[in-house]
Amino acid sequence: MNLTHNRRNFMKGSAALLTSSIATQSAFADTAAKTKKLKVALIGCGGRGSGAASQILKVDNNIQLVALADLFPDKVAAAQKRFSRLGDKVQLSDDTCFSGFDAYKKVMAMPEVDIVLLASPPHFRPIHMEAAVDAGKHIFAEKPLACDPAGLKRAAEAIRKCEEKGLYFLCGFCYRFDGPKVETMKQIKEGIIGDIINIQTSYNAGGLWHRGRKEDWSDMEWQMRNWLYFTWLSGDHIVEQAIHSIDKMQWLAGDGDIKSVLSFGGRQSRTDAKFGNVYDHFSVNYEFQNGITGNFTCRQQGGTDRYVGDVAYGTKGKVDFQRGRIYNSKGEQIWAVKGKFEQMHQHEQRVLVEHLRAGKYFNNGEESIKSCGLGILGRMSGYTGKKLTWDHLMKSKEDLSPSAYTLDTPISVAPVAQPGITKFV
Ligand SMILES: NC(=O)c1ccc[n+]([C@@H]2O[C@H](COP(=O)([O-])OP(=O)(O)OC[C@H]3O[C@@H](n4cnc5c(N)ncnc54)[C@H](O)[C@@H]3O)[C@@H](O)[C@H]2O)c1
Repeated sequence: MNLTHNRRNFMKGSAALLTSSIATQSAFADTAAKTKKLKVALIGCGGRGSGAASQILKVDNNIQLVALADLFPDKVAAAQKRFSRLGDKVQLSDDTCFSGFDAYKKVMAMPEVDIVLLASPPHFRPIHMEAAVDAGKHIFAEKPLACDPAGLKRAAEAIRKCEEKGLYFLCGFCYRFDGPKVETMKQIKEGIIGDIINIQTSYNAGGLWHRGRKEDWSDMEWQMRNWLYFTWLSGDHIVEQAIHSIDKMQWLAGDGDIKSVLSFGGRQSRTDAKFGNVYDHFSVNYEFQNGITGNFTCRQQGGTDRYVGDVAYGTKGKVDFQRGRIYNSKGEQIWAVKGKFEQMHQHEQRVLVEHLRAGKYFNNGEESIKSCGLGILGRMSGYTGKKLTWDHLMKSKEDLSPSAYTLDTPISVAPVAQPGITKFV
């Protein structure tokens, strides 16, 4: 995968790939793939991973969950119990449910596994992607794909190798698989609001879970159990959660290349040490090479107003993208999305499976890497107070990995970044 600005268009995004088009247009290139029992393994058995596994099993009756991996034995055991209620769709035994930092390697060593679902904390995504590609597995990878520039480059290289080896890759930027947004995007592409000039996008949410600390937990276990609050593990909430809005902004901007990123951020409610070193708000100005500007905010503060939405302003009107409403320049509504659509997380699993069954290559890595890069740039600009470009990201030496992956590895909490003092590396 080329991380420079020479867009090669070797991957096609998900926008045009709703199921109906696959079913009607694709001849089944590979009869074996059409009827094969697809065997799936889940790595990272938390909330989202469990959701993704249940959803892929619902796509058709010839898919089976055959292995689980998680860092913690209690998480694997709970998932094994939950999934075992699904009968024939699940074939798990103690020999195919693994725990530990190297649990993923045991899954990759199972030749019968066709597809891996990667849903651990994002720091591990590039590591798990690399191993999956080496083992020849098709990949569903939850967003984000990395937390820092070093991880992003590894993830991009793994995606490039997927393409080389014909391995399917779907990153869970789920809004791109949401029917109402796909329909709204079609209207935008047809020019209903003219040329987009500016996009205002927000992911303003409340506080999130905290899993406390037990006396017998090492520092590493405490961080792993509360991974949201440590930048090396989550990338901060701009990368971990609000990246969805950055991805929609980038989609609205035509997946164009970025010119500059200038961000502000800090922590006002997360002052307690239990919140590690992440911020609780960011505000970022994005400027694309094609002249489109994006103003983005995100917040995770309890007691504040919530708002997740994107409004794009064009030369002939505006679109409320999140809600599927389009207005002319007088403010009159001229279009609204209609119809019933499959739930987006369910739909993304269908897109992956149906492309595999149809022998129609799918890889949304290119735009996914770009969105993750914009999120990481937003974080780094906020932490340092510097205006940044894609070049900065490519030349950055930042690698937030710990010295080793064991629960006994000594690990301290990196200081909370201070704009103007924290250096860009
Ligand atoms: N697309 C969406 O709508 C959406 C929604 C929620 C979460 N997510 C993403 O899904 C991912 C998981 O989030 P979650 O909410 O399920 O978190 P979670 O904490 O519920 O689950 C993460 C699981 O990964 C396990 N884990 C930790 N380190 C691991 C390792 N090295 N190897 C294997 N397993 C490991 C944890 O023990 C835990 O069980 C994150 O990247 C998050 O951003 C996406």
